Amino acid sequence: MREQLSKIREEALVAVKAATALSEIEELRVKFLGKKGEVSSILKQLGGLSAEERPVIGQLANEVRADIDAAISDAKKRLEADALNQKLAAEKLDITMPGKSGKIGGLHPINTVLNDMIDIFQSMGFDVVDGPEVETDYYNFEALNVPADHPARDMQDTFYLSDNLLLRTQTSAAQIRTMKTRKPPIRIVCPGRVFRADEVDATHSPVFHQMEGLVVDKGVTMCDLLGVLEKFAHEIYGPETKVKFRPSFFPFTEPSVEVDVSCSECGGKGCRVCKGTGWIEILGAGMVHPNVLRACDIDPEVYSGFAFGIGLDRLTTTRYKISDIRLLFENDIRFLEQF
Ligand code: PHE
Repeated sequence: MREQLSKIREEALVAVKAATALSEIEELRVKFLGKKGEVSSILKQLGGLSAEERPVIGQLANEVRADIDAAISDAKKRLEADALNQKLAAEKLDITMPGKSGKIGGLHPINTVLNDMIDIFQSMGFDVVDGPEVETDYYNFEALNVPADHPARDMQDTFYLSDNLLLRTQTSAAQIRTMKTRKPPIRIVCPGRVFRADEVDATHSPVFHQMEGLVVDKGVTMCDLLGVLEKFAHEIYGPETKVKFRPSFFPFTEPSVEVDVSCSECGGKGCRVCKGTGWIEILGAGMVHPNVLRACDIDPEVYSGFAFGIGLDRLTTTRYKISDIRLLFENDIRFLEQF
């Protein structure tokens, strides 16, 4: 039995040492130390031994069991560590690899143009004011010297919400709101959306963007207006840009002008962008009509002022060479991502 036991020990230790998987170790444990295993079968035979031999063999069997047990737990530890190392190696991260950054939003091109315009006018001392998109007939027309039967109402097809309420057709309504609440000197710009019942095509949209400007003070002249607008055009389009003032008509300004700039695409030679004319119309302007000042309790004998209304959409499409105004409103991510 002694021999048998040491043979079991030897065999077991060699097998356990050679094992390469945890499942193998478990099989060996059952084979040698299990209830029906080899050591147990020796112990079962102890009864047949003499009283002197029984404790000696019993003790030896316990030692063999303890040795195999220890070998098994060593092997388990070894295999578990191997498994962990393999797993770590397989899942290794290269933290020096460049990361994948998530997409972040950007400014809509209209907002970029708007921010540039605000910078230019703020640098000339203008405040930015806000006005409501739903206006009353009074602020959008009446106080701007456009009474109910005035033919100029036809210039702007209006979305009426009720007899008296409408979607503002022009940011000029902000002129009135400003002059009613502030006293001269006034120097403001008011950017925002405006609405007209236009058919949609490549150059027209029922919603578009304007920036109204207003200056009222003692001794303000047409020269101040022309100087401010020329400075604006040079800042936006570059100092080589030519500026042309054409006489025009607006009910709320007298005299009135429309302002063209030389086409930034062709430099004035004529191209698709300027429809062959070499010029692009960007705004309407003029000296504030005395009736408008009077409607706001400002004495036209003491004060004078100028106003202008700039279309942002055309500034944006010409700056970025966008061929269709509808792209500005469709929010197609493939278009917007380019800015
Ligand atoms: N409100 C005019 C328009 O929408 C533009 C304008 C503004 C003209 C201020 C003169 C003075 O066409």
